[in-house]
Amino acid sequence: MSQYKIAVFVGSLRKDSINRRLAQALEKLAGDRAKFEYLKIDDIPLYNQDHDNQFPPQGTRLKTQVRAADAVLFVTPEYNRSIPGVLKNAIDTASRPYGDSAFDGKPAAVIGASIGAPGAAMAQQHLRNVLVFVNLAVMAQPEAFLHYKEGLIEADGSISNDSTRAFLQGFVDRFLAWIETNHAP
Ligand SMILES: Cc1cc2nc3c(=O)[nH]c(=O)nc-3n(C[C@H](O)[C@H](O)[C@H](O)COP(=O)(O)O)c2cc1C
Repeated sequence: MSQYKIAVFVGSLRKDSINRRLAQALEKLAGDRAKFEYLKIDDIPLYNQDHDNQFPPQGTRLKTQVRAADAVLFVTPEYNRSIPGVLKNAIDTASRPYGDSAFDGKPAAVIGASIGAPGAAMAQQHLRNVLVFVNLAVMAQPEAFLHYKEGLIEADGSISNDSTRAFLQGFVDRFLAWIETNHAP
């Protein structure tokens, strides 16, 4: 198996984001099988179709990073039962101008954490709808709705709970196998 480059969208800008910690935990579980590249999305202007002809440089940077990756991983919280606006704005930007999307055909996966029991399930469902439309090859299973409790993931990405670690290891292994099957030659 090769080392895959994975472009990572984290749907939270918060310094102590549990979703960023979750992404870091997945990176650790992938080990040297993958290289995670965390995408900067906090400086991308609000998408405006009028600017498609003078595309913002931050949007071009994002698209270049996505294009250079073998796969895309979305790690997101749920905001008001849906996708955080900052994440949707980044996706809209990387999918445009029409006919020049950075996403087309790449393997992708979705995961998320929340402090509530549903574990960002509804945000992930909304996100899947969007990602299928932009023609990402989204892994259907396993779904992963993480109910985050204090101390579950340390700042270095280590996971304190054995069953959570085993579950997330399974998620990472399946995603890498999905990339193996679906990435561009
Ligand atoms: C604007 C806003 C809306 C939220 N809505 C939800 C929600 O619909 N469902 C949920 O489980 N948690 C919700 N939360 C709580 C988040 O799960 C919690 O803030 C979590 O820590 C966010 O992820 P992060 O730590 O990666 O930023 C919301 C938080 C914010 C700030």
